[in-house]
Amino acid sequence: MRILVVGKGGREHALVRALAESPGQPELFCFPGSDAIFAIAQPVAADGLESLVAWMLANSIDLCVAGEESYLVKGEGLANLCAKHGIPCWGPPKESAQLEASKEFAKEFLVRNGIPTARATATDTLQDAMNAIAGEYPTVLKFDGLAAGKGVAVCADEPSAMDFLNEVFTRRRFGPGRVLVEQCLTGPEVSVFAAIIDAQYLIFTPARDYKRAHDGDLGPNTGGMGAVASRRLIPAEMLEKIEREIVRPTVAGLRHEGLPYRGFLYFGIMLTPTGPQIIEYNCRFGDPECQAVMPLVKGDLAAFCLAGALGELRADLINFNDGWSVCVILASAGYPETSRNGDQISGLEEITAARVYHSGTRRTADGDWETNGGRVLAVVAGGATREDAVSKAHTAADQVKFDGLQRRRDIGILNF
Ligand code: AMP
Ligand code: GLY
Repeated sequence: MRILVVGKGGREHALVRALAESPGQPELFCFPGSDAIFAIAQPVAADGLESLVAWMLANSIDLCVAGEESYLVKGEGLANLCAKHGIPCWGPPKESAQLEASKEFAKEFLVRNGIPTARATATDTLQDAMNAIAGEYPTVLKFDGLAAGKGVAVCADEPSAMDFLNEVFTRRRFGPGRVLVEQCLTGPEVSVFAAIIDAQYLIFTPARDYKRAHDGDLGPNTGGMGAVASRRLIPAEMLEKIEREIVRPTVAGLRHEGLPYRGFLYFGIMLTPTGPQIIEYNCRFGDPECQAVMPLVKGDLAAFCLAGALGELRADLINFNDGWSVCVILASAGYPETSRNGDQISGLEEITAARVYHSGTRRTADGDWETNGGRVLAVVAGGATREDAVSKAHTAADQVKFDGLQRRRDIGILNF
């Protein structure tokens, strides 16, 4: 089997590794990929969506796996183009990927389908937004479009709300677009992933993402400084409630509204005092949750994704390790505001009891690794207990060195 994975980060490195470890030993390709990914997948000569699809046709690709979301909504849409040319694709078409690309679309879908979520009002101007807030703080403001993770602000008071609204409506930092004014929910957050295949689904191991930069969940929001995954992360009854009140009605809603879906769907959920509520959908796996979850997936992921892309849920092909997995992100100097490239990385070869996925690295002319992005590496270890996985992951992370390295020491330890 010949599989092409689309993306270039730590998530895609983990996906490519998991696919490579599938018993059928598929031949792997990655676009745009990274130096680390190219150690196990071959690069693709393409420079955009159309040429990528032409390349897949010319190179007899059996399955395209969408790692990151941007290609799903670009141009005609990756999955739409694949469908047009008869290439099985694991990832949804453009119309369904609006669940991630437009927060307003997602909110309307949630409300129509009776899925628990925060109340929200869509606004077109700063004045509209201030009227919708109506003096109630904290409030949550969301730009209605892709904004590279910067489009959401939880505002404690009027000055901070005004700051965000001025960025959006006056300075147009993210381009044109509306703002959702949303009720502020409280509670621990959990990331739930499901493989969705038309009317069927399979829930993967739930995970927690550590979004803040510093220990104790302090500091600015980041793309994610680490993750912990386990079936035991949340009580079984809570997972059942999430399945009943969120996952199942989502799948039914997609069917009912004629939105085709074959791929991973990520449910960002807050466990509020009145029950689980959804705060966002993403039409892909999470990063860094993917790096924590993939090592727990056993069986034949490649055959599972191919069957899924062809419309068949083959739950018998995979199963999930019952243990724990902890992923510690090593970030570069300046992250998350900026990032520094070119710092030489050492100690990677000393790591034996953990997996290392590359998020932002490149190989130098001498064959060494150096930093090339904000999040640099994901060090992941598993264990039968949480403590075991935590200890192995942090011990392994201690072995890696580069100038300006930033990491959290409480990943996996700090509970909800
Ligand atoms: P998003 O970009 O939608 O994932 O939101 C980023 C973060 O903002 C989430 O992970 C939450 O921590 C926070 N957030 C989003 N929506 C709400 C809400 N309604 N209430 C409280 N916090 C929220
Ligand atoms: N870990 C958050 C995300 O992938 O969006």
